[in-house]
Amino acid sequence: MGFLDGRVAVVTGGNRGIGRGIVEALAAEGARVALTARERRDAERAAREVGGKSMGFACDVRHHEQVVWLFEQVARAAGGTDILVNNAGVGIFGPVAETSPEDWRTVIETNLNGVFYCCHEAIPQMKSRGGGYILNISSLAGKNAFPNGAAYNASKFGLNGFSEALMQEVRYDGIRVSYLMPGSVATEFGRGASTKGAWALTPPDVAEVVIDLLRSPARALFSRVEMRPSKPPRK
Ligand SMILES: NC(=O)c1ccc[n+]([C@@H]2O[C@H](COP(=O)([O-])OP(=O)(O)OC[C@H]3O[C@@H](n4cnc5c(N)ncnc54)[C@H](OP(=O)(O)O)[C@@H]3O)[C@@H](O)[C@H]2O)c1
Repeated sequence: MGFLDGRVAVVTGGNRGIGRGIVEALAAEGARVALTARERRDAERAAREVGGKSMGFACDVRHHEQVVWLFEQVARAAGGTDILVNNAGVGIFGPVAETSPEDWRTVIETNLNGVFYCCHEAIPQMKSRGGGYILNISSLAGKNAFPNGAAYNASKFGLNGFSEALMQEVRYDGIRVSYLMPGSVATEFGRGASTKGAWALTPPDVAEVVIDLLRSPARALFSRVEMRPSKPPRK
């Protein structure tokens, strides 16, 4: 059916937005996809909508024990993980002095701790299967800081550093690590509905890059990918 036939992929936050686009692209290439949302009903509904062999699991990536449970379920149902897409993420924006410690924790625990927890559980499964691919969805906010972005910038700058260290650590185990840094993508990201226009990137645009990376020769490692809308509104 596709070049990912027989492969097992885990996509965090795969029920909607960019993650959903990635889930659909992976499934179209034949992968068996385990997608997550925070609520079981959202995850299961999305898996039903995607169809095929996809599975939906509830997992809040801020909680290590829920991530452990997720990877146990994937191992039980599908034998283990070949591809991990760390996509789940949140953006809460505002001045540092007005950011509550709870909001700070939400951003860092989701965008950074959650990625660590998922890699911690996935890497042993990948090693036992002879290799794998980890794709971390970062952001251009991981290199371009902006006012009111301190929590989000810190989480994505941190994610980039984490990804680069991990890439060097697991490359000889046959595990490739890439991080993607999209600019504006039309989703419900942030608080409130998206007001982005037709100029913005779309989830399928990001998914296409994920597929291209997975298709690339095992000898090659595209470690960091920046992508941006080609024609954003002029400033
Ligand atoms: N949209 C953009 O312009 C843009 C640009 C660059 C990078 N990104 C990055 O792309 C990723 C996806 O963003 P998006 O635009 O698709 O956002 P979105 O439409 O708001 O979707 C966010 C996804 O993350 C999940 N999620 C949030 N908190 C979670 C948690 N604690 N545990 C597990 N899952 C959680 C959500 O699940 P629920 O449905 O359960 O809430 C949802 O599936 C994020 O990492 C974001 O930083 C977005």
